[in-house]
Amino acid sequence: MNPFTQRILNWYRDNGRDLPWRRNPEPYSVWLSEIILQQTRIAQGTAYWERFMERFPTVESLANASEDEVLRLWEGLGYYSRARNLHAAAKQIVTSGGFPTSLEGIRSLKGVGDYTAAAIGSICFGIPAAVVDGNVYRVLARHFGIATPVGTTEAKREFTVLAQKLLPKEDPAVFNQGMMDFGALQCTPQNPACDSCPLLDTCNAFKTGRASLLPVKKPANTPKEVHLDYVYVRFNGGTAIRRRGPGDIWRGLYEPLTQKKGHLLRRAVKHQLTHRTIIADFYLWEPAERPELPEGYIWIKETELDRYAKPRLFELLLEAL
Ligand code: ADE
Repeated sequence: MNPFTQRILNWYRDNGRDLPWRRNPEPYSVWLSEIILQQTRIAQGTAYWERFMERFPTVESLANASEDEVLRLWEGLGYYSRARNLHAAAKQIVTSGGFPTSLEGIRSLKGVGDYTAAAIGSICFGIPAAVVDGNVYRVLARHFGIATPVGTTEAKREFTVLAQKLLPKEDPAVFNQGMMDFGALQCTPQNPACDSCPLLDTCNAFKTGRASLLPVKKPANTPKEVHLDYVYVRFNGGTAIRRRGPGDIWRGLYEPLTQKKGHLLRRAVKHQLTHRTIIADFYLWEPAERPELPEGYIWIKETELDRYAKPRLFELLLEAL
């Protein structure tokens, strides 16, 4: 057994949290705890778990409840699709005659992903599947000095392979819950408790002074800069717009002409979108004769502009006029 594995098992024996669903790990109650804990802290999650177990002590009682009641009991946890999936999965379980006992069967329940399936499978059925989440990334990245940016498919593959290699096949439940608790209590995101850590002498991050630098986060994509010209044509009380087609930003919205013409109204208006920074120059073009319009454009009365849905950038052009 890898010394890392042995120490996690020992650590959990001495420091594991006494959580109510761990006392008698039945599939239904463990599944419920995992769904509640998907985006919830332990303290709040435990209170909800107790309320659910009291109102719905069995998967049948949950399946037979109205969706309204499930949602009401869920109130305050957020992500209501989780509650709907929970309810739908309860019906799936009852219809199929009981809680699935294989990893694939558990994974096929609505709202259950790789992490949750591995957690339930290992805790309830001793299935040797390693859980991999933020806690596991952090502990492994630090201990083994892995700088692969988390949040990438490469990291998911790499950390899953490593966690699976470290998982003791005879005791997956203790190891998985040990990793969860070790990450939550000892090897915390900020100010990890290195002073009292029993894995210190083999910890790469501690040895190299990188505890605060690992795990490496994937840098946010820097938005691409795009330049464009917006031209407001004015002829005889009318202007020209066109509706943007599918497959692009602003689909369905209306835009003015985009070929540089007329005189400059405003240079370099910076407009920030999530994945793009747009630098736009605004022009006013007042031709003496009615011009031919490019493909897709229509003439409308200037007074009717407010009937058309426009991107914010077009509104800025109208303000600049
Ligand atoms: N976070 C997600 N699942 C958990 C579990 N079973 N125990 C503690 N923390 C968790």
